[in-house]
Amino acid sequence: MAHNYQLPEIQDTADITGDSLELAREATQIDARVIVLCGVRFMAETAAILNPNRTVLLSEGTAGCPMADMIDVKTVRGWRRRYPGAAVVCYVNSSAAVKAESDYCCTSANAVKVVRAVPENEVLFIPDRNLGHYVSTQTDKRVILYPGYCNTHHRITAKHVLRAREEHRDAVILVHPECRPEVIEHADAVLSTSQMLRYVKESKAQSFVIGTEKGLLHRLIKDNPGRQFYILSETLVCPDMKKTTLSRLAETMQARANVVEVPEDIRVRARRALDRMLALV
Ligand code: 13P
Ligand code: SF4
Repeated sequence: MAHNYQLPEIQDTADITGDSLELAREATQIDARVIVLCGVRFMAETAAILNPNRTVLLSEGTAGCPMADMIDVKTVRGWRRRYPGAAVVCYVNSSAAVKAESDYCCTSANAVKVVRAVPENEVLFIPDRNLGHYVSTQTDKRVILYPGYCNTHHRITAKHVLRAREEHRDAVILVHPECRPEVIEHADAVLSTSQMLRYVKESKAQSFVIGTEKGLLHRLIKDNPGRQFYILSETLVCPDMKKTTLSRLAETMQARANVVEVPEDIRVRARRALDRMLALV
């Protein structure tokens, strides 16, 4: 299974490609005892949380998400004490242990829906401040932001969007909600990776500027022959997503290496946060 941000040759080798939640969900449906997840650690952990009876391998053992690593269990507990009335909503880009400390999980595709649906009026949103800020503009809830961010998306500024607007006047500009508020403000639509794929399919436009990790362009180009795609900035590359090469994948599969195991007590509590998300949306 390969995430939408993986290298083109990895996406072409995979049986299934998708966003992090689609991969975890698909993993529960397929007839395989071993799943190799080509992506970063929290994605393999999510697949393991939902699939306790299957072996989950991470394609490259050192591939992590720097944003997920910006918060740990101790910090979540400290923030909870500061905001005792708030529901803790954690972005799926987080460790299994952090999910286990949270009330609800969400993805970039459903964060707004989840926050609108929680019964509490106050929400502590972890760890992505940009996604949390975007959500806060779409709901009446009081959203408390934690200062995490994605190095790759946070690097983009309003200047990149304004320049793209000048260079590609007819193009539709799509950005990921992990981008800064100033970037979101100037874009035409704010969408998760799976939503971008759907948006383009349904749109009548011929050209698009894509404000998310460059790997998504492979699938966009493949699925939409004849249309033009431009990356918002050549710096939209997640180094951890690019650690999985074909030879690395072959080594991992041959050695059945990098087995991702989530301790049962953490798995059960993290699963509860994921199930609560699925029940809300
Ligand atoms: P998705 O939830 O769309 O798979 O995105 C994960 C991610 O890492 C975004 O930067
Ligand atoms: Fe994490 Fe950003 Fe890479 Fe996604 S693109 S895996 S959020 S560092």
